[in-house]
Amino acid sequence: MIIIKTRMLGLIRGRMMSVMAGRVLTALPRSKARLLTSHPSQHLHSASSSCQKCELTSKRYNVQRGKFSAVSEHDLKFFQELLGSHRTVLGEEELEGHNTDWLRTVRGASSVLLKPKTTEEVSAILSYCDQHQLAVCPQGGNTGLVGGSVPVFDEVIVSTALMNQVESVDTWSGVVTCQAGCVLEALDQHVAQYGLMIPLDLGAKGSCHIGGNVSTNAGGLRLLRYGSLHGSVLGVEAVLASGEVVDCMSAMKKDNTGYDLKHLFIGSEGTLGLVTKVAINCPPRPAAVSLAFLGLQSFDNVLKTFKAAKDQLGEILSSCEFIDQSSMECVEGNLKIKSPLDEYPYYMLLETSGSNGDHDEEKLNNFLESTLGSGLVSDGTVATEPSKMANIWALRERIAEALILDGYTYKYDISLPLPHFYKLVEDMREHLGSNVVRCCGYGHVGDGNLHLNFTSRQYEKEILERIEPAVYEWTSQVNGSISAEHGLGFKKRNYIHYSKSLGAINLMKQMKKLMDPNGILNPYKVLPD
Ligand code: FAD
Ligand code: MLT
Ligand code: ZN
Repeated sequence: MIIIKTRMLGLIRGRMMSVMAGRVLTALPRSKARLLTSHPSQHLHSASSSCQKCELTSKRYNVQRGKFSAVSEHDLKFFQELLGSHRTVLGEEELEGHNTDWLRTVRGASSVLLKPKTTEEVSAILSYCDQHQLAVCPQGGNTGLVGGSVPVFDEVIVSTALMNQVESVDTWSGVVTCQAGCVLEALDQHVAQYGLMIPLDLGAKGSCHIGGNVSTNAGGLRLLRYGSLHGSVLGVEAVLASGEVVDCMSAMKKDNTGYDLKHLFIGSEGTLGLVTKVAINCPPRPAAVSLAFLGLQSFDNVLKTFKAAKDQLGEILSSCEFIDQSSMECVEGNLKIKSPLDEYPYYMLLETSGSNGDHDEEKLNNFLESTLGSGLVSDGTVATEPSKMANIWALRERIAEALILDGYTYKYDISLPLPHFYKLVEDMREHLGSNVVRCCGYGHVGDGNLHLNFTSRQYEKEILERIEPAVYEWTSQVNGSISAEHGLGFKKRNYIHYSKSLGAINLMKQMKKLMDPNGILNPYKVLPD
Protein backbone atom coordinates (compact mmCIF):
# COMPACT_ATOMS: atom_id res chain seq x y z
CA MET A 1 0.00 0.00 0.00
CA ILE A 2 1.42 3.36 -0.93
CA ILE A 3 -1.26 5.93 -0.91
CA ILE A 4 -4.25 5.74 1.34
CA LYS A 5 -7.11 7.86 0.10
CA THR A 6 -9.35 8.80 2.91
CA ARG A 7 -11.59 11.45 4.37
CA MET A 8 -11.28 13.55 7.46
CA LEU A 9 -12.22 11.91 10.72
CA GLY A 10 -15.85 12.78 11.09
CA LEU A 11 -15.94 11.76 14.72
CA ILE A 12 -13.45 14.28 16.00
CA ARG A 13 -14.82 16.94 13.76
CA GLY A 14 -18.37 16.20 14.82
CA ARG A 15 -17.50 16.49 18.47
CA MET A 16 -15.66 19.73 17.87
CA MET A 17 -18.44 21.28 15.95
CA SER A 18 -20.83 20.75 18.80
CA VAL A 19 -19.30 23.71 20.60
CA MET A 20 -20.00 27.38 20.04
CA ALA A 21 -19.38 28.56 16.50
CA GLY A 22 -16.06 30.29 16.03
CA ARG A 23 -14.89 28.84 19.33
CA VAL A 24 -14.27 25.31 18.20
CA LEU A 25 -12.92 23.28 21.06
CA THR A 26 -11.80 19.74 21.10
CA ALA A 27 -13.28 17.07 23.29
CA LEU A 28 -10.21 14.88 23.04
CA PRO A 29 -8.91 13.66 26.39
CA ARG A 30 -5.46 15.23 26.13
CA SER A 31 -3.77 18.12 27.81
CA LYS A 32 -3.82 20.29 24.75
CA ALA A 33 -7.44 19.55 24.27
CA ARG A 34 -8.20 20.37 27.85
CA LEU A 35 -6.38 23.64 27.48
CA LEU A 36 -8.90 24.77 24.99
CA THR A 37 -11.83 23.21 26.77
CA SER A 38 -11.43 25.87 29.40
CA HIS A 39 -11.01 28.41 26.67
CA PRO A 40 -10.29 31.81 28.22
CA SER A 41 -12.43 33.72 25.79
CA GLN A 42 -15.31 31.50 26.63
CA HIS A 43 -14.58 31.89 30.27
CA LEU A 44 -14.62 35.66 29.97
CA HIS A 45 -17.61 35.43 27.73
CA SER A 46 -19.71 33.60 30.22
CA ALA A 47 -18.34 34.64 33.56
CA SER A 48 -16.52 37.92 33.55
CA SER A 49 -17.64 41.46 34.04
CA SER A 50 -20.62 40.39 32.24
CA CYS A 51 -18.97 39.61 29.04
CA GLN A 52 -18.17 43.12 28.00
CA LYS A 53 -17.33 43.15 24.34
CA CYS A 54 -13.94 44.56 23.61
CA GLU A 55 -13.87 47.91 21.88
CA LEU A 56 -14.10 47.93 18.09
CA THR A 57 -10.63 47.79 16.55
CA SER A 58 -11.44 50.64 14.17
CA LYS A 59 -12.24 52.89 17.14
CA ARG A 60 -9.47 51.81 19.52
CA TYR A 61 -6.80 52.12 16.87
CA ASN A 62 -8.45 54.93 14.88
CA VAL A 63 -8.30 53.11 11.53
CA GLN A 64 -9.60 54.57 8.27
CA ARG A 65 -11.86 52.18 6.35
CA GLY A 66 -10.57 51.35 2.86
CA LYS A 67 -12.68 52.20 -0.17
CA PHE A 68 -14.52 48.89 -0.19
CA SER A 69 -18.20 48.28 -0.84
CA ALA A 70 -20.51 47.30 2.00
CA VAL A 71 -22.24 43.92 1.68
CA SER A 72 -25.62 44.41 0.00
CA GLU A 73 -28.75 42.28 -0.25
CA HIS A 74 -27.67 41.51 -3.79
CA ASP A 75 -24.32 40.18 -2.53
CA LEU A 76 -26.01 38.04 0.11
CA LYS A 77 -28.26 36.57 -2.55
CA PHE A 78 -25.20 35.55 -4.55
CA PHE A 79 -23.54 33.92 -1.51
CA GLN A 80 -26.75 32.13 -0.53
CA GLU A 81 -27.21 30.79 -4.03
CA LEU A 82 -23.63 29.54 -4.06
CA LEU A 83 -23.47 28.02 -0.56
CA GLY A 84 -27.05 27.78 0.64
CA SER A 85 -28.27 29.73 3.64
CA HIS A 86 -26.80 27.20 6.07
CA ARG A 87 -23.27 28.05 4.99
CA THR A 88 -23.92 31.78 4.70
CA VAL A 89 -23.95 32.77 8.33
CA LEU A 90 -25.58 36.08 9.26
CA GLY A 91 -26.43 37.80 12.53
CA GLU A 92 -24.44 39.66 15.16
CA GLU A 93 -24.65 36.94 17.76
CA GLU A 94 -23.72 34.12 15.37
CA LEU A 95 -20.73 36.12 14.19
CA GLU A 96 -19.52 37.37 17.56
CA GLY A 97 -16.93 34.62 18.02
CA HIS A 98 -15.65 35.22 14.49
CA ASN A 99 -15.45 39.00 14.86
CA THR A 100 -13.39 38.84 18.07
CA ASP A 101 -9.92 37.37 18.47
CA TRP A 102 -8.91 34.65 20.96
CA LEU A 103 -7.25 37.19 23.24
CA ARG A 104 -10.38 39.37 23.16
CA THR A 105 -8.31 42.38 22.23
CA VAL A 106 -9.56 43.25 18.74
CA ARG A 107 -13.07 43.26 17.31
CA GLY A 108 -14.48 43.76 13.85
CA ALA A 109 -18.02 44.19 12.67
CA SER A 110 -18.51 41.76 9.84
CA SER A 111 -22.09 40.87 9.03
CA VAL A 112 -21.45 37.74 6.99
CA LEU A 113 -19.40 34.58 7.38
CA LEU A 114 -19.05 32.15 4.48
CA LYS A 115 -18.23 28.47 4.86
CA PRO A 116 -17.08 27.01 1.54
CA LYS A 117 -16.34 23.31 1.27
CA THR A 118 -14.32 23.24 -1.93
CA THR A 119 -11.61 25.15 -3.75
CA GLU A 120 -14.14 25.93 -6.50
CA GLU A 121 -16.44 27.59 -3.99
CA VAL A 122 -13.56 29.65 -2.57
CA SER A 123 -12.68 30.66 -6.10
CA ALA A 124 -16.25 31.75 -6.85
CA ILE A 125 -16.43 33.75 -3.60
CA LEU A 126 -13.13 35.58 -4.14
CA SER A 127 -13.81 36.27 -7.79
CA TYR A 128 -17.19 37.79 -6.86
CA CYS A 129 -15.72 39.83 -3.98
CA ASP A 130 -12.94 41.13 -6.20
CA GLN A 131 -15.36 42.21 -8.91
CA HIS A 132 -17.64 43.89 -6.38
CA GLN A 133 -14.84 45.44 -4.32
CA LEU A 134 -15.77 43.54 -1.16
CA ALA A 135 -12.96 43.07 1.36
CA VAL A 136 -12.33 39.55 2.70
CA CYS A 137 -10.86 38.19 5.92
CA PRO A 138 -9.73 34.55 5.65
CA GLN A 139 -10.23 32.70 8.91
CA GLY A 140 -9.08 29.30 10.16
CA GLY A 141 -9.42 28.39 13.83
CA ASN A 142 -9.23 32.05 14.93
CA THR A 143 -6.43 31.36 17.39
CA GLY A 144 -4.09 33.97 15.89
CA LEU A 145 -2.50 36.34 18.39
CA VAL A 146 -1.82 39.46 16.31
CA GLY A 147 -5.32 40.48 15.24
CA GLY A 148 -4.96 39.05 11.72
CA SER A 149 -7.78 36.53 11.85
CA VAL A 150 -10.71 38.83 12.47
CA PRO A 151 -12.03 41.70 10.38
CA VAL A 152 -11.16 45.27 11.23
CA PHE A 153 -14.35 46.68 9.72
CA ASP A 154 -17.03 44.71 7.88
CA GLU A 155 -14.88 42.39 5.76
CA VAL A 156 -16.57 39.21 4.57
CA ILE A 157 -15.20 36.37 6.71
CA VAL A 158 -14.31 33.28 4.69
CA SER A 159 -13.88 30.39 7.09
CA THR A 160 -12.13 27.10 6.29
CA ALA A 161 -14.11 25.29 9.01
CA LEU A 162 -15.81 22.94 6.53
CA MET A 163 -12.73 22.31 4.37
CA ASN A 164 -11.57 19.42 6.51
CA GLN A 165 -10.94 16.53 4.15
CA VAL A 166 -7.73 14.50 4.15
CA GLU A 167 -7.09 13.59 0.53
CA SER A 168 -4.27 11.10 0.89
CA VAL A 169 -1.48 9.74 3.05
CA ASP A 170 1.53 8.38 1.18
CA THR A 171 3.01 5.94 3.65
CA TRP A 172 6.22 5.43 1.67
CA SER A 173 7.20 9.07 1.56
CA GLY A 174 5.22 10.14 4.65
CA VAL A 175 3.35 12.91 2.87
CA VAL A 176 -0.18 13.91 3.83
CA THR A 177 -2.32 15.93 1.45
CA CYS A 178 -5.36 17.66 2.89
CA GLN A 179 -7.68 20.63 2.80
CA ALA A 180 -6.78 23.76 4.72
CA GLY A 181 -9.48 23.48 7.37
CA CYS A 182 -8.24 20.28 9.01
CA VAL A 183 -7.76 20.93 12.71
CA LEU A 184 -4.09 20.40 13.56
CA GLU A 185 -4.71 17.93 16.37
CA ALA A 186 -7.21 15.90 14.33
CA LEU A 187 -4.76 15.79 11.43
CA ASP A 188 -1.97 14.66 13.72
CA GLN A 189 -4.17 11.88 15.11
CA HIS A 190 -5.12 10.87 11.61
CA VAL A 191 -1.53 10.43 10.43
CA ALA A 192 -0.69 8.70 13.73
CA GLN A 193 -2.57 5.66 12.35
CA TYR A 194 0.25 5.33 9.83
CA GLY A 195 3.05 5.84 12.35
CA LEU A 196 3.53 9.45 11.26
CA MET A 197 3.25 12.83 12.95
CA ILE A 198 2.61 16.39 11.82
CA PRO A 199 5.94 18.18 12.39
CA LEU A 200 4.23 21.03 14.24
CA ASP A 201 2.73 21.20 17.70
CA LEU A 202 1.33 24.16 19.57
CA GLY A 203 -0.96 24.90 22.47
CA ALA A 204 -3.81 25.82 20.12
CA LYS A 205 -3.68 22.51 18.25
CA GLY A 206 -7.23 21.56 19.24
CA SER A 207 -8.63 24.59 17.41
CA CYS A 208 -6.16 25.93 14.83
CA HIS A 209 -6.40 24.79 11.21
CA ILE A 210 -3.49 23.55 9.16
CA GLY A 211 -4.24 26.28 6.59
CA GLY A 212 -4.00 28.87 9.39
CA ASN A 213 -0.74 27.29 10.53
CA VAL A 214 0.69 27.50 7.04
CA SER A 215 -0.59 31.03 6.52
CA THR A 216 1.10 32.19 9.75
CA ASN A 217 4.13 29.93 9.34
CA ALA A 218 3.46 28.82 12.91
CA GLY A 219 6.52 27.71 14.87
CA GLY A 220 5.51 26.00 18.08
CA LEU A 221 7.11 23.59 20.47
CA ARG A 222 9.13 21.36 18.16
CA LEU A 223 10.58 23.70 15.56
CA LEU A 224 13.93 22.99 17.21
CA ARG A 225 13.71 19.41 15.93
CA TYR A 226 11.62 19.57 12.76
CA GLY A 227 12.35 23.04 11.42
CA SER A 228 9.87 25.60 10.09
CA LEU A 229 6.90 25.00 7.82
CA HIS A 230 8.92 26.51 4.97
CA GLY A 231 10.78 23.19 5.11
CA SER A 232 7.96 20.78 5.95
CA VAL A 233 5.29 22.06 3.57
CA LEU A 234 5.87 20.49 0.18
CA GLY A 235 2.85 21.80 -1.65
CA VAL A 236 0.24 24.53 -1.40
CA GLU A 237 -2.91 25.22 -3.37
CA ALA A 238 -4.18 28.77 -2.97
CA VAL A 239 -6.84 30.97 -4.48
CA LEU A 240 -5.81 34.48 -5.48
CA ALA A 241 -8.01 37.52 -4.93
CA SER A 242 -9.16 37.27 -8.55
CA GLY A 243 -10.46 33.76 -7.95
CA GLU A 244 -7.64 32.16 -9.92
CA VAL A 245 -6.48 28.88 -8.40
CA VAL A 246 -2.70 28.55 -8.06
CA ASP A 247 -1.78 24.89 -7.94
CA CYS A 248 1.63 24.39 -6.30
CA MET A 249 0.58 21.05 -4.86
CA SER A 250 3.76 19.10 -5.40
CA ALA A 251 4.14 16.23 -2.97
CA MET A 252 7.76 15.69 -3.99
CA LYS A 253 10.61 16.31 -1.56
CA LYS A 254 12.62 17.85 -4.37
CA ASP A 255 11.21 20.19 -7.00
CA ASN A 256 13.41 22.87 -8.50
CA THR A 257 11.20 23.85 -11.40
CA GLY A 258 11.56 27.60 -11.21
CA TYR A 259 10.38 29.94 -8.47
CA ASP A 260 9.07 28.10 -5.42
CA LEU A 261 5.82 30.04 -5.22
CA LYS A 262 4.35 28.10 -2.32
CA HIS A 263 6.61 30.07 -0.01
CA LEU A 264 4.66 33.24 -0.82
CA PHE A 265 1.62 31.76 0.88
CA ILE A 266 3.52 30.38 3.87
CA GLY A 267 3.50 33.17 6.44
CA SER A 268 1.71 35.82 4.35
CA GLU A 269 -1.28 35.71 6.73
CA GLY A 270 -4.01 35.63 4.11
CA THR A 271 -2.88 38.80 2.32
CA LEU A 272 -1.72 37.16 -0.93
CA GLY A 273 -4.14 34.27 -1.32
CA LEU A 274 -6.46 31.93 0.51
CA VAL A 275 -4.77 28.58 1.13
CA THR A 276 -7.13 25.74 0.23
CA LYS A 277 -4.89 22.65 0.28
CA VAL A 278 -1.49 21.64 1.58
CA ALA A 279 0.93 18.72 1.29
CA ILE A 280 3.08 18.16 4.36
CA ASN A 281 6.10 15.98 4.94
CA CYS A 282 5.42 13.97 8.09
CA PRO A 283 8.30 12.42 10.05
CA PRO A 284 7.89 9.03 11.72
CA ARG A 285 6.10 9.23 15.06
CA PRO A 286 8.68 8.62 17.79
CA ALA A 287 8.27 5.40 19.72
CA ALA A 288 9.64 6.88 22.94
CA VAL A 289 9.24 10.31 24.45
CA SER A 290 10.66 11.62 27.74
CA LEU A 291 10.35 14.99 29.36
CA ALA A 292 12.69 16.60 31.85
CA PHE A 293 11.47 19.52 33.93
CA LEU A 294 14.23 21.56 35.51
CA GLY A 295 14.58 24.37 38.05
CA LEU A 296 17.50 26.80 37.63
CA GLN A 297 18.93 29.71 39.56
CA SER A 298 20.13 31.98 36.75
CA PHE A 299 19.43 32.66 33.11
CA ASP A 300 23.07 32.05 32.39
CA ASN A 301 22.50 28.51 33.65
CA VAL A 302 19.52 28.19 31.29
CA LEU A 303 21.77 28.95 28.32
CA LYS A 304 24.52 26.63 29.50
CA THR A 305 21.97 23.86 30.08
CA PHE A 306 20.62 24.31 26.56
CA LYS A 307 24.14 24.04 25.17
CA ALA A 308 24.82 20.95 27.31
CA ALA A 309 21.52 19.41 26.11
CA LYS A 310 22.50 19.92 22.48
CA ASP A 311 25.91 18.41 23.11
CA GLN A 312 24.80 15.47 25.25
CA LEU A 313 21.32 14.64 23.92
CA GLY A 314 22.11 15.42 20.32
CA GLU A 315 19.67 13.98 17.83
CA ILE A 316 17.05 12.96 20.43
CA LEU A 317 16.45 16.49 21.75
CA SER A 318 13.01 17.48 20.41
CA SER A 319 12.05 20.54 22.45
CA CYS A 320 13.72 23.11 24.66
CA GLU A 321 11.28 25.46 26.37
CA PHE A 322 11.64 28.07 29.06
CA ILE A 323 9.43 29.54 31.80
CA ASP A 324 10.35 32.33 34.21
CA GLN A 325 9.11 32.54 37.78
CA SER A 326 6.52 35.21 37.03
CA SER A 327 4.97 33.07 34.26
CA MET A 328 4.96 30.08 36.59
CA GLU A 329 3.22 32.11 39.30
CA CYS A 330 0.62 33.11 36.74
CA VAL A 331 -0.16 29.61 35.53
CA GLU A 332 -0.16 28.18 39.06
CA GLY A 333 -2.14 31.04 40.55
CA ASN A 334 -4.68 31.68 37.80
CA LEU A 335 -5.25 28.10 36.64
CA LYS A 336 -4.44 26.23 39.85
CA ILE A 337 -2.01 23.85 38.16
CA LYS A 338 0.70 22.56 40.45
CA SER A 339 4.36 22.45 39.51
CA PRO A 340 6.22 19.31 40.63
CA LEU A 341 9.23 21.47 41.58
CA ASP A 342 9.73 24.07 44.30
CA GLU A 343 10.08 27.72 43.38
CA TYR A 344 12.96 28.69 41.10
CA PRO A 345 13.68 31.88 39.16
CA TYR A 346 13.77 29.87 35.89
CA TYR A 347 12.45 26.57 34.61
CA MET A 348 13.18 24.52 31.52
CA LEU A 349 11.38 21.72 29.72
CA LEU A 350 13.64 19.43 27.73
CA GLU A 351 11.92 16.79 25.65
CA THR A 352 13.58 13.86 23.97
CA SER A 353 12.00 11.69 21.28
CA GLY A 354 13.48 8.67 19.60
CA SER A 355 13.02 5.10 18.60
CA ASN A 356 14.52 3.40 21.66
CA GLY A 357 13.11 4.36 25.07
CA ASP A 358 15.84 2.71 27.16
CA HIS A 359 18.58 4.38 25.18
CA ASP A 360 16.90 7.83 25.38
CA GLU A 361 16.11 7.54 29.07
CA GLU A 362 19.65 6.56 29.85
CA LYS A 363 20.97 9.51 27.91
CA LEU A 364 18.56 11.88 29.63
CA ASN A 365 19.36 10.52 33.09
CA ASN A 366 23.10 10.88 32.43
CA PHE A 367 22.51 14.42 31.26
CA LEU A 368 20.53 15.24 34.39
CA GLU A 369 23.14 13.65 36.63
CA SER A 370 25.90 15.72 35.09
CA THR A 371 24.01 19.04 35.07
CA LEU A 372 22.72 18.54 38.61
CA GLY A 373 26.20 17.47 39.70
CA SER A 374 27.86 20.52 38.21
CA GLY A 375 25.25 22.83 39.74
CA LEU A 376 23.97 24.08 36.39
CA VAL A 377 20.57 22.67 37.24
CA SER A 378 19.27 23.00 40.80
CA ASP A 379 16.45 20.49 40.69
CA GLY A 380 14.79 18.29 38.12
CA THR A 381 12.33 15.53 37.40
CA VAL A 382 11.89 13.22 34.41
CA ALA A 383 8.53 11.96 33.18
CA THR A 384 7.87 9.23 30.61
CA GLU A 385 4.24 8.47 31.44
CA PRO A 386 1.91 10.35 29.11
CA SER A 387 -0.27 11.76 31.92
CA LYS A 388 2.74 13.04 33.86
CA MET A 389 4.24 14.58 30.74
CA ALA A 390 0.90 16.20 29.95
CA ASN A 391 0.78 17.78 33.41
CA ILE A 392 4.22 19.27 32.94
CA TRP A 393 3.44 20.46 29.41
CA ALA A 394 0.30 22.16 30.73
CA LEU A 395 2.51 24.41 32.88
CA ARG A 396 4.12 25.71 29.72
CA GLU A 397 1.32 25.53 27.16
CA ARG A 398 -1.34 27.14 29.31
CA ILE A 399 0.56 30.31 30.19
CA ALA A 400 -1.17 32.27 27.41
CA GLU A 401 -4.52 31.22 28.80
CA ALA A 402 -3.50 32.00 32.38
CA LEU A 403 -2.33 35.50 31.47
CA ILE A 404 -5.72 36.40 30.02
CA LEU A 405 -7.26 35.84 33.42
CA ASP A 406 -5.28 38.83 34.77
CA GLY A 407 -7.44 41.06 32.53
CA TYR A 408 -5.73 42.37 29.39
CA THR A 409 -2.59 40.87 27.81
CA TYR A 410 -0.02 42.90 25.85
CA LYS A 411 1.69 40.11 23.93
CA TYR A 412 5.13 40.23 22.27
CA ASP A 413 6.79 37.45 20.35
CA ILE A 414 10.41 38.31 19.78
CA SER A 415 13.44 36.59 18.25
CA LEU A 416 16.65 37.49 20.02
CA PRO A 417 20.28 36.42 20.03
CA LEU A 418 20.48 34.17 23.09
CA PRO A 419 22.87 36.32 25.16
CA HIS A 420 20.22 39.09 25.08
CA PHE A 421 17.22 36.82 25.54
CA TYR A 422 16.22 37.54 29.14
CA LYS A 423 17.72 41.02 29.41
CA LEU A 424 14.75 42.35 27.45
CA VAL A 425 12.35 41.04 30.11
CA GLU A 426 14.43 42.60 32.89
CA ASP A 427 14.72 45.96 31.16
CA MET A 428 11.04 46.12 30.30
CA ARG A 429 10.09 45.09 33.84
CA GLU A 430 12.07 48.03 35.13
CA HIS A 431 10.65 50.33 32.46
CA LEU A 432 7.03 49.42 33.25
CA GLY A 433 7.39 49.15 37.04
CA SER A 434 4.11 49.00 38.90
CA ASN A 435 2.08 50.19 35.90
CA VAL A 436 1.44 46.56 34.99
CA VAL A 437 0.12 43.61 36.95
CA ARG A 438 2.75 41.32 35.47
CA CYS A 439 5.75 41.35 33.15
CA CYS A 440 6.88 37.85 32.33
CA GLY A 441 8.92 35.87 29.84
CA TYR A 442 8.62 32.33 28.55
CA GLY A 443 8.99 30.65 25.20
CA HIS A 444 10.96 28.59 22.79
CA VAL A 445 14.43 29.35 24.14
CA GLY A 446 15.92 26.63 21.94
CA ASP A 447 14.86 28.71 18.92
CA GLY A 448 15.81 32.08 20.43
CA ASN A 449 12.10 32.95 20.61
CA LEU A 450 10.98 34.91 23.66
CA HIS A 451 7.30 35.40 24.56
CA LEU A 452 7.31 38.63 26.51
CA ASN A 453 3.96 39.46 28.06
CA PHE A 454 2.54 42.25 30.20
CA THR A 455 -0.86 42.28 31.83
CA SER A 456 -3.14 44.91 33.31
CA ARG A 457 -6.67 44.69 34.68
CA GLN A 458 -8.01 46.23 31.50
CA TYR A 459 -6.68 47.73 28.30
CA GLU A 460 -4.83 50.99 28.92
CA LYS A 461 -3.56 53.05 26.03
CA GLU A 462 -0.87 54.64 28.25
CA ILE A 463 0.59 51.22 29.04
CA LEU A 464 0.60 50.27 25.37
CA GLU A 465 2.41 53.51 24.55
CA ARG A 466 4.99 52.80 27.21
CA ILE A 467 5.66 49.36 25.75
CA GLU A 468 5.57 50.26 22.05
CA PRO A 469 7.76 51.16 20.32
CA ALA A 470 10.27 50.72 23.20
CA VAL A 471 10.16 46.94 22.97
CA TYR A 472 10.68 47.03 19.19
CA GLU A 473 13.54 49.53 19.42
CA TRP A 474 15.28 47.32 21.96
CA THR A 475 14.80 44.28 19.73
CA SER A 476 15.99 46.03 16.61
CA GLN A 477 19.14 47.26 18.34
CA VAL A 478 20.29 43.68 18.89
CA ASN A 479 19.18 42.63 15.38
CA GLY A 480 16.29 40.54 16.65
CA SER A 481 12.90 40.12 14.99
CA ILE A 482 9.75 41.84 16.27
CA SER A 483 7.71 38.79 15.29
CA ALA A 484 9.29 35.39 15.66
CA GLU A 485 6.30 33.17 14.93
CA HIS A 486 2.94 34.89 15.41
CA GLY A 487 3.18 37.16 12.37
CA LEU A 488 2.38 40.87 12.03
CA GLY A 489 -1.37 40.70 11.52
CA PHE A 490 -3.13 43.94 12.39
CA LYS A 491 -1.31 44.81 15.59
CA LYS A 492 2.30 44.77 14.45
CA ARG A 493 2.14 45.80 10.82
CA ASN A 494 3.21 49.38 11.45
CA TYR A 495 6.36 48.21 13.23
CA ILE A 496 7.60 46.04 10.37
CA HIS A 497 10.42 48.49 9.63
CA TYR A 498 12.11 47.51 12.89
CA SER A 499 12.85 44.13 11.31
CA LYS A 500 12.72 44.66 7.55
CA SER A 501 14.56 47.07 5.27
CA LEU A 502 12.72 49.66 3.20
CA GLY A 503 13.71 47.77 0.06
CA ALA A 504 12.18 44.56 1.38
CA ILE A 505 8.97 46.33 2.44
CA ASN A 506 8.66 47.96 -0.98
CA LEU A 507 9.06 44.61 -2.72
CA MET A 508 6.38 43.13 -0.46
CA LYS A 509 4.05 45.97 -1.43
CA GLN A 510 4.72 45.32 -5.12
CA MET A 511 3.97 41.63 -4.67
CA LYS A 512 0.74 42.48 -2.91
CA LYS A 513 -0.23 44.79 -5.78
CA LEU A 514 0.55 42.09 -8.32
CA MET A 515 -1.32 39.31 -6.57
CA ASP A 516 -4.21 41.33 -5.16
CA PRO A 517 -4.49 44.53 -7.24
CA ASN A 518 -7.69 45.68 -5.53
CA GLY A 519 -6.34 44.96 -2.06
CA ILE A 520 -9.39 42.94 -0.98
CA LEU A 521 -7.49 40.18 0.83
CA ASN A 522 -7.09 40.83 4.54
CA PRO A 523 -6.71 44.60 4.28
CA TYR A 524 -5.13 46.48 7.24
CA LYS A 525 -2.90 43.44 7.91
CA VAL A 526 0.83 42.69 7.54
CA LEU A 527 1.82 45.68 5.38
CA PRO A 528 2.13 49.08 7.03
CA ASP A 529 -0.46 51.84 6.52
P1 FAD B 1 -6.38 32.09 12.28
O1 FAD B 1 -6.12 32.54 13.66
O2 FAD B 1 -7.79 31.82 11.93
O3 FAD B 1 -5.71 32.99 11.23
C1 FAD B 1 -4.38 33.43 11.37
C2 FAD B 1 -3.97 34.24 10.13
O4 FAD B 1 -3.94 33.40 8.99
C3 FAD B 1 -4.95 35.35 9.78
O5 FAD B 1 -4.25 36.41 9.21
C4 FAD B 1 -5.88 34.72 8.76
O6 FAD B 1 -6.45 35.67 7.90
C5 FAD B 1 -4.92 33.80 8.03
N1 FAD B 1 -5.51 32.56 7.53
C6 FAD B 1 -6.11 31.58 8.23
N2 FAD B 1 -6.45 30.56 7.43
C7 FAD B 1 -6.05 30.91 6.19
C8 FAD B 1 -6.09 30.27 4.92
N3 FAD B 1 -6.60 29.06 4.74
N4 FAD B 1 -5.57 30.92 3.86
C9 FAD B 1 -5.02 32.16 3.98
N5 FAD B 1 -4.96 32.80 5.16
C10 FAD B 1 -5.46 32.18 6.25
N6 FAD B 1 1.62 30.24 17.16
C11 FAD B 1 2.87 29.78 16.96
O7 FAD B 1 3.47 30.09 15.94
N7 FAD B 1 3.49 28.99 17.89
C12 FAD B 1 2.89 28.62 19.04
O8 FAD B 1 3.47 27.92 19.85
C13 FAD B 1 1.56 29.07 19.26
N8 FAD B 1 0.90 28.72 20.38
C14 FAD B 1 -0.35 29.18 20.60
C15 FAD B 1 -1.00 28.80 21.76
C16 FAD B 1 -2.28 29.28 22.02
C17 FAD B 1 -2.97 28.85 23.27
C18 FAD B 1 -2.91 30.14 21.09
C19 FAD B 1 -4.29 30.65 21.33
C20 FAD B 1 -2.27 30.52 19.93
C21 FAD B 1 -0.98 30.04 19.67
N9 FAD B 1 -0.30 30.39 18.51
C22 FAD B 1 0.96 29.92 18.29
C23 FAD B 1 -0.90 31.30 17.53
C24 FAD B 1 -1.86 30.59 16.54
O9 FAD B 1 -2.38 29.44 17.07
C25 FAD B 1 -1.17 30.27 15.26
O10 FAD B 1 -0.83 31.45 14.62
C26 FAD B 1 -1.98 29.39 14.30
O11 FAD B 1 -1.14 28.99 13.24
C27 FAD B 1 -3.20 30.08 13.72
O12 FAD B 1 -4.01 29.14 13.07
P2 FAD B 1 -5.57 29.37 12.90
O13 FAD B 1 -6.14 28.31 12.07
O14 FAD B 1 -6.21 29.60 14.21
O15 FAD B 1 -5.58 30.71 12.06
C1 MLT C 1 3.20 29.81 23.07
O1 MLT C 1 4.30 29.42 22.70
O2 MLT C 1 2.73 29.50 24.16
C2 MLT C 1 2.41 30.62 22.12
O3 MLT C 1 3.13 31.14 21.08
C3 MLT C 1 1.42 31.54 22.74
C4 MLT C 1 1.99 32.72 23.45
O4 MLT C 1 2.88 33.37 22.95
O5 MLT C 1 1.50 33.06 24.52
ZN1 ZN D 1 5.09 30.24 20.95
